[in-house]
Amino acid sequence: MIIRNAKIVSAKGIREVDILIEGERIRKVGKRVSCSGEETVDAAGLYAFFGGMDAHVHFRVPGAEWKEDFYTGTCAALAGGITTVLDMPNTNPPTISVNALGQKKEMARKDSVCDFGFHFGATENNFEEVKKASPSSLKIYMGQSTGGMAISESAIRRHFLEFEKEKPICIHAEDEKLAHELGERNAFVSSSAVCKAIAWAGECKRRVHLCHASTNTEIILAKSYAKASVEAAPHHLFLSQKDEARLGVCREVRPPLRGEEDRATLWGALAQVDIIASDHAPHTLSEKKEGACGFPGVQTMLPLMLDSAKKGRITLEEVARLLCSNPPKIFGIEGKGEIKEGNFADIVLVNMEKKWKVKGEKMFSKCGWTPYEGMELFGVIEKVFLRGETAFEEGEVIAKRGSGKLVMH
Ligand code: DOR
Ligand code: ZN
Ligand code: ZN
Repeated sequence: MIIRNAKIVSAKGIREVDILIEGERIRKVGKRVSCSGEETVDAAGLYAFFGGMDAHVHFRVPGAEWKEDFYTGTCAALAGGITTVLDMPNTNPPTISVNALGQKKEMARKDSVCDFGFHFGATENNFEEVKKASPSSLKIYMGQSTGGMAISESAIRRHFLEFEKEKPICIHAEDEKLAHELGERNAFVSSSAVCKAIAWAGECKRRVHLCHASTNTEIILAKSYAKASVEAAPHHLFLSQKDEARLGVCREVRPPLRGEEDRATLWGALAQVDIIASDHAPHTLSEKKEGACGFPGVQTMLPLMLDSAKKGRITLEEVARLLCSNPPKIFGIEGKGEIKEGNFADIVLVNMEKKWKVKGEKMFSKCGWTPYEGMELFGVIEKVFLRGETAFEEGEVIAKRGSGKLVMH
């Protein structure tokens, strides 16, 4: 197959070249690539990105399938231009043992329509299991959240020392002790946790990945250390405390929404940010009424960023850096991230002239709502290829259940 006339966006620039795909891979990228008898996709007027990667999703399997499962979650991903997702360990049972990881892999293999990988969870005492599993990424909750996986500072220290130093430890940075003392989860609570995590990582000379940085201060602190990577979540970029009244019972998320000024400075700090990941955390509306924390976001993340590019807030190249090329680099996933010879043919075709309206009831997520309800966004995801196959087209998922592959564990 050959895709002609698309404007190909990478972190380095935009160029109009043809993409020749053979099987699962990109065979050739260049001007007027010639070939005979190939199926041709005319992408004139469209932009082509490498498939987005969302390195932070909660797809709720096993144990809370009524909120989401690997089918609905990965459908939402494809519809949002995401071809790879990394799922978090706070399920029930949690992904904290070789056994639990094995079971999760099987379930994901059966249902996923995009590629997937897993973060392993750290507990107070699962040091041996972490060693046995030897995961590519370890998730540590410094503060309490869905799943109740926060651990003590002494356990964190031991994980920091024992987990392979060149692999990322992903941190949910909220200082649980301080949160209790203050009786709230304000920006101090997150910055304090970042300070500790960076100090400890520095002592161990290890890699650390800061999840969902919610303020500029967190980014400055993390980036003072060379082995730290930083992630920002769309809800901290597009929503603030100003939206809480509108969101009503849906407003809770951890870390919480910050003030308008913090939101503005977060945009200003994006050049220092390595990746954007959604922290897709679906809960039903009735659970939100009971105080459940988290927003769905895997389907709206790339579209929100595209719309921002259309409005001149960010460049398309920066969007490609933050959502497409950097995430696979940080998590060591081969063959993904850029439209270049030899890589997998994960390609997203986008129409930047068309707009659409975000509606919770039309999203692929089971939770049925979105914090971005009613927003009109420029940038329609027209078509998504996953490893050379059409996976999403004209608003519909074409990929068969089980066509997604494991890319990290
Ligand atoms: O708001 C949140 N929801 N923050 C988290 O850290 C976890 C997530 C969830 O899994 O619901
Ligand atoms: Zn978190
Ligand atoms: Zn999360």
